[in-house]
Amino acid sequence: MANSYFDIPEPIRIKAIEAGAPKPQLSITLQAAPEKAALGYPGKSAGDVLFNGAAGTLLVSLGEAPKMITDTFRVAGGSVGRWLVQNAAPSAEISVNNVNGFGIPNALAAFCEGLLLGVFKFDRHKKASNSIEPITVSVRAQNGLDGVETVVRRATILARAVNLARDWGHEPANVINPVTLAERAVALSERYGLKCTILDEKKLEEIGAGAILSVGKGSHQTPPRIIVLEYAGKNAAADAQPVVLVGKGLTFDSGGYSMKDTANMQGMKYDKCGAMAVLAAIAAAAELGVSTPIVAIIGAAENMVSSYAYRPDDLITSLAGKTIEIISTDAEGRLVLADCLTYAQRKYSARAVIDLATLTGGVVVALGRLRAGILSNNTALSEQLAAAGERTHERLWPLPLDEEYFQLLKSDDGDMKNSATVREAHPIVGGIFLRQFVEDTVPWAHLDIAGLADTPKDSAYCPRGATGFGVRLLIDYLESL
Ligand code: BES
Ligand code: ZN
Ligand code: ZN
Repeated sequence: MANSYFDIPEPIRIKAIEAGAPKPQLSITLQAAPEKAALGYPGKSAGDVLFNGAAGTLLVSLGEAPKMITDTFRVAGGSVGRWLVQNAAPSAEISVNNVNGFGIPNALAAFCEGLLLGVFKFDRHKKASNSIEPITVSVRAQNGLDGVETVVRRATILARAVNLARDWGHEPANVINPVTLAERAVALSERYGLKCTILDEKKLEEIGAGAILSVGKGSHQTPPRIIVLEYAGKNAAADAQPVVLVGKGLTFDSGGYSMKDTANMQGMKYDKCGAMAVLAAIAAAAELGVSTPIVAIIGAAENMVSSYAYRPDDLITSLAGKTIEIISTDAEGRLVLADCLTYAQRKYSARAVIDLATLTGGVVVALGRLRAGILSNNTALSEQLAAAGERTHERLWPLPLDEEYFQLLKSDDGDMKNSATVREAHPIVGGIFLRQFVEDTVPWAHLDIAGLADTPKDSAYCPRGATGFGVRLLIDYLESL
């Protein structure tokens, strides 16, 4: 199995070709839908395709012109990719003119991303999984290859990173647990030239990381890990402050003794998706040569029941020295993150700390599956991340963080409770809990991605399962610094 961690199917490869290269078998044309449905045109919805075998053309609808946005090109790309795979096309091409004719500078990049993201598949565990030759999609340049090659390269790196986050996110807990995740992180860091430090249970004990240790106590065969990856930044000054990314990596969340029921426990392998986004983002940033130094800190644990497990009523001591009264063993993500945030601030002088976590079911109730919640102590950071999310179509929406919400976490016996006893404002209370572990001077944002980390059904460029949400957003933000 050595090295197979990165063996992710690539049904499509994209390459740039010269303006004068020979004609292809199949040429792809993107076009806005006509006002009225018409013969010879694809349908009105973005991504509708019309194949003309005799002419060797695949016409792809971009929907109604006034509604067109950059993401429309991802949708079109996703749809083309799936069509090519389903129809076993050997190759196809699109002219850069056709894409950039829409006057949207990022259209080609978005189309390429969609093309590679839409054909992601997770079939490693199926007996009949067969790897076929990748389909080549050529992008015909107009004025020299350089510009197109740059776009294609960047889209390929991004899509591979998202697909890595999806692939690892999709693996169940009997494949990926905190220990095997740490092994994968080591392999990832070797591949991308990152520094990697693993804090195992002994080390966590030694430093007093009682919160993550408590969460992981029930899974004594697969104990928790804090995984740290560092990327120095391309040509970064020695004193440049890093952006620290923190990811919730619950490889399985049964709820512990505050146990989830059957329906709600299903899918809790996806409770590690914040961590997967952070891992994939730092790898992609290194490959792209982002100039900002980056640190990724993963809190990996498995929330299980056993006679070793932590219980409701337990009083635990976090790495920060603050004591926490456990109300619900199912509010475990914030405990893991608390120690990671403390570790981050002790070890690094961060210009920003950003955590991604599938923290609460409540954020799904509030925002559904279209937007993730963002809670922050710093308006500028929050706005920068939200803007990045608009650009990548990984959209965020702010929730408040008024200190008064902390009333809900006041504990008689400890410094705070890990969960309120009322069913109010869960995502905000989660954020307020984390806030207790963040210095006022450190710009920090918490992204509650519980509604976006996985999806029950296929969409234009995201098949069912782990979505890889956050990877492109983080890269966009990091590149904007
Ligand atoms: N991992 C869950 C949150 C979650 C729920 C993610 C649904 C994805 C889909 C988290 O650890 C959890 O159980 N949170 C509790 C918090 C509560 C006890 C305050 C929840 O949302 O019910
Ligand atoms: Zn939980
Ligand atoms: Zn959880």
